[in-house]
Order: sequence, then structure tokens, then C-alpha cells
Amino acid sequence: MGFAGFAQQMKYYCDMKVLMVCLGNICRSPLAEGILQTKVQSQGLDWEVDSAGTGAWHVGELPDPRSVQVARENGIDITYQRARQFQVQDLDNYDLIFAMDQSNLANILRKAHTSAQEKKVHLIMNQVDPNANISVPDPYYDDDGFEQVFAMLDQACDRIIEQWV
Ligand code: 4NP
Repeated sequence: MGFAGFAQQMKYYCDMKVLMVCLGNICRSPLAEGILQTKVQSQGLDWEVDSAGTGAWHVGELPDPRSVQVARENGIDITYQRARQFQVQDLDNYDLIFAMDQSNLANILRKAHTSAQEKKVHLIMNQVDPNANISVPDPYYDDDGFEQVFAMLDQACDRIIEQWV
């Protein structure tokens, strides 16, 4: 086969590569990944969706059971995911990088060296409320926060698809 066919088969090529980023990669960004992945699949889009954390504490772990639970209640399985740390190469390997909160955003932008890299990085809730700079609250220490996080991310992922399809 030609290179295009090879690249497609190897998943080196797709229409959009999206990375969701939070702190631990066990609560918020795994939900964002699972929600967007589900919408992408149901619309038949050739997008790649992944997530990462700016911190390394939970590398290799499954998503937090509370995220697994709220995802499952909404028909989404996120148990295939394993936490990984955000890497500087992600700024080149992805087309769109969504930070869950202002702290994640600052940490990602600190690693960017070019304006092309900086332009890929967005605060995810600005998709819903442009320039409002609203953070997705960290639910790690708040058992009640997961449903609100899911609802916020569900709305944001609809807007992401609307804007970039
Ligand atoms: P996340 O939540 O960034 O949404 O995955 C957190 C998970 C773990 C920690 C903090 C936030 N932690 O400090 O271990």
C-alpha cells in the first residue's frame, strides 16, 4: 500500500488529535477523554482522543472509581484508560490541547516554546463561555463534585465538536 494507506492504518494520520489535561489524570481529564471519544465515535469522526496529567503521582493507574462510576451512569466505559504524565512532545503531537483549570493551563504553557504550540492550548470551559476563563473544579477531595464535572465536560465536548468538525 502507499504511504497514506499505511499511515492511516498505523493511526499516524487522523483528522484531529485532541489531548485533555488535568493535574492527576485520574478524575477530570479521563472523563473528558471518555465523553469526547464517545461523541466522536457516535458521529463517525476520524479523531484521536487522549488525556494526560501535569503531575506524575498516579501514572499507570486506572481512573478514580468516582469518575468510573459517573461515566458508567452515563453509559461511558473509561476503564481502558491508564494515567500518564503530560510530556513536552505532546505540544507537537496533538492539534488541540484542553486544560481543565487555570493551573493546568499555566503548567502546559510554561512548556510551550513556539506560538504554534501556544495556539493549540485552550481552557476547556472557554468552549462554552468564551473568555470567561472558568475552571473545571478539582473533585478529588469532594465526593459530590463528579456529577457537576461530568455535566460541564459534556457541554464542552459538544462545543469542541461543533467548532472543529
Ligand atoms: P484530577 O484530580 O487532576 O482531575 O485527576 C486530582 C487527582 C489527584 C490529585 C489531585 C487532583 N492528587 O493530588 O493526587
